[in-house]
Amino acid sequence: MRTVQVALAERSYRILVAGGLLARLGQECARLKLGRRCAVITDARVGPLHAAAAMESLKEAGFEPLLVTVPAGETAKSLKVVASCYDAFAKARLERKSFVVALGGGVVGDLAGFVAATYLRGIPFVQVPTTLLAQVDSSVGGKVGVNLPAGKNLIGAFHQPRLVLCDLDVLGTLPEREYRSGFGEIIKYGIIYDAALFRRLERSMDRLLARDPAELAAVVARCCAIKADVVGQDETESGLRAILNYGHTIGHGLEAISAYGKYLHGEAISIGQVAASHLSARRLGMPEADVQRVRTLFERAGLPVTVKLGTAQRKALFAAMRLDKKVSGGEIKFVLARAVGKVEFGCAVPDEDVNWALDAVGA
Ligand code: GLY
Repeated sequence: MRTVQVALAERSYRILVAGGLLARLGQECARLKLGRRCAVITDARVGPLHAAAAMESLKEAGFEPLLVTVPAGETAKSLKVVASCYDAFAKARLERKSFVVALGGGVVGDLAGFVAATYLRGIPFVQVPTTLLAQVDSSVGGKVGVNLPAGKNLIGAFHQPRLVLCDLDVLGTLPEREYRSGFGEIIKYGIIYDAALFRRLERSMDRLLARDPAELAAVVARCCAIKADVVGQDETESGLRAILNYGHTIGHGLEAISAYGKYLHGEAISIGQVAASHLSARRLGMPEADVQRVRTLFERAGLPVTVKLGTAQRKALFAAMRLDKKVSGGEIKFVLARAVGKVEFGCAVPDEDVNWALDAVGA
């Protein structure tokens, strides 16, 4: 088993990466010295696959778990679903020492984390991410929240989990497209922080796509360690943490103008990162060879690297990028790379250059 430590003083926690961890959920939670009552929040897709194992493990360790199943998909990240969780918790008399287990992908993690952050002014929670993307990104770092009709993640909090269990066996049930979407974030870590990881991904992409357990364990653990390192230096995104958004400005914009239906997150940020790499070549002199390596690696992961946008869609994309939470004083700030493994954040970029980069990824 691989263990990664997130060092945040009294909010520090461990990320465990291995197969078979779901069966150990109860015994790992017991080490945290929390209350006996807890709630497992899952969704209608993951619940039938993994909730029984989670509940069984918790019961065997002496806990009294309540199962709360929310609808599958982005619509579960709503204040209405949050309220239904509060009601279930109150009815089961969950107390301040009770805890929440988030069993699912990024949507469940964000929702369950937000419920935990706010119920009784905050109770502990444990992340059990069941998608590759959630294992390497959203389950680590404490960003939790829900959507408003006006936009994604507009309500939220920083609430660190007490433990993250990345069970690699649960990835076996992930549909192929969703599995590949995880590489949108995995490749990002190579670009923003670790040229050696990027080279490793170039060597082992075929094995990773075949879900080779040993290679997957090493790569998931390395990505979690990078995220832990960044979050340990800048928990609330006052600076460095922004580098985790490489390719996300355009990526989030694409998700928004396609009404969050067309692209999975990893797909949208794949296009966004290829565009950001072209932009990086123009603004910071990223070598053209690195731009090509980035494009090729995303392509090998089976992710889209081009997008065809008409004039109206391009206008909508700029409007969406300006609505992003990370815009400050009306100015869109980009994360750009000098080379694979070396990025800068807070880069102001003229619209003309963004348009040029969009042409570069034009189909
Ligand atoms: N997913 C970006 C962050 O956690 O900051």
